[in-house]
Amino acid sequence: MTTTAPSAAETALSFGDQALLDRSLSDMVHRLRGSVILRIAADVRAMIAAGKPVCNLTAGDFDPRQFPIPEALAIAIRKAFEAGETNYPPSEGMLTLRKAVAEYVAREHQVRYPVESVLIAAGGRPIVYATYRAVINPGDTVVYSVPSWNNDYYAEITEAKAVELVASRENGFQPTLAEIEPHLTTAALLCLCSPGNPTGTMMPTPTLREILGAVVRENERRRSTGQREMFVFYDQIYSGLAFAAEHEHPAVVVPEAAPYLIVLDGISKAFAATGLRLGWVTAAPAVVARMKDFLGHVGAWAPRPEQVGTAAFLSDPAAVADYRAEMHQRATARLEALYQGFTALKRSGYPVDCVDPQGAIYLSLRLDLVGKSFNGKAIATNEDIRQIMLEQAGLGVVPFQAFGLDGETGWFRMSVGAVSLQDIADAFPRIRGFLDGVR
Ligand SMILES: Cc1ncc(COP(=O)(O)O)c(C=O)c1O
Repeated sequence: MTTTAPSAAETALSFGDQALLDRSLSDMVHRLRGSVILRIAADVRAMIAAGKPVCNLTAGDFDPRQFPIPEALAIAIRKAFEAGETNYPPSEGMLTLRKAVAEYVAREHQVRYPVESVLIAAGGRPIVYATYRAVINPGDTVVYSVPSWNNDYYAEITEAKAVELVASRENGFQPTLAEIEPHLTTAALLCLCSPGNPTGTMMPTPTLREILGAVVRENERRRSTGQREMFVFYDQIYSGLAFAAEHEHPAVVVPEAAPYLIVLDGISKAFAATGLRLGWVTAAPAVVARMKDFLGHVGAWAPRPEQVGTAAFLSDPAAVADYRAEMHQRATARLEALYQGFTALKRSGYPVDCVDPQGAIYLSLRLDLVGKSFNGKAIATNEDIRQIMLEQAGLGVVPFQAFGLDGETGWFRMSVGAVSLQDIADAFPRIRGFLDGVR
């Protein structure tokens, strides 16, 4: 047997006409739009490569130099790896981790789930997908507000009928019961997210109480008529990053809603560990059992060393508390610097507005520039604003259209995970200079 690799010319494969091949793929993949944020990120990279100063507020991710993962977590994962924890984990997750998650949830949120209610996966995304798959039959109704993160994609993949509620700034871009109520009798799944991506706002507890109370009543009605009950997907992946108020767990706010609650959390955001890929869901055991079976076929398990390491880390309350204090300080300093900077511009009469950040790593910014012009170039869309802000002010932001909110509203998401305080300070003279040139 030869060990010499053939040359590239000898083995060059021909894939033929790619457009033709693409036409043969499924309707579903054709309906999915490519990620808008990734396209924007490519523009930002091109600016940086050209040597231009950029304050990159685009990706919902962390620069590990600005937001490193907890040292204790890194050490524990390394140890697990060196101890040979490298085979398949159980499909529901390592028992030590599921127990550690149940304890962590009890400590952080004052609600105790049994271990059968905890399922581990490779980050939050597989859990969102499994939730939709476990609940939705094609044509079932899923209700969520816009702007929100990726519900539109998951609804598309699962062939759900999406009901998109346009959330208002007055309500902090979180949906209200009045907006949800007309869809209560038809919804199979209601999706809520707090603290929210892209808005950085939190659902007020009284609103959550009202909504969950209505779900419980609706499900009592359905049960009496033999109809399928509805579920609430509560995405609290940013629960460790609640600044304006304590994060309230939905099962604490309305314990009677527990059978219907599918609650997502994980280490991606709270511990700046997006690349480690570890998330969990807590839900009724019957729901978790089905999600486990489904995810087993997807194979979306979190890597075993990460599971063992995370179990050790979450079981060390002092290490978690120390890290959280540091993380809050880093995130809020950046969010406040942006909020104060834009609020000062607003006070000086510039056409900008910013929502007071409450949680997560995001800030909602409005640039009221549609209909104006810069250097003779008309500004007609959010996309025009985005491009011109990047070119002229070196500020990378993401239009709310990327989060399902149609229309040239002037609203954008700013994410602070990849910038330093200096990057933010340096950006404001450029922003002011650009706004001075707008007519
Ligand atoms: C609201 C929300 N939910 C879930 C996720 C998925 O997180 P993960 O990176 O763990 O897949 C994200 C990621 O950005 C998010 O913003």
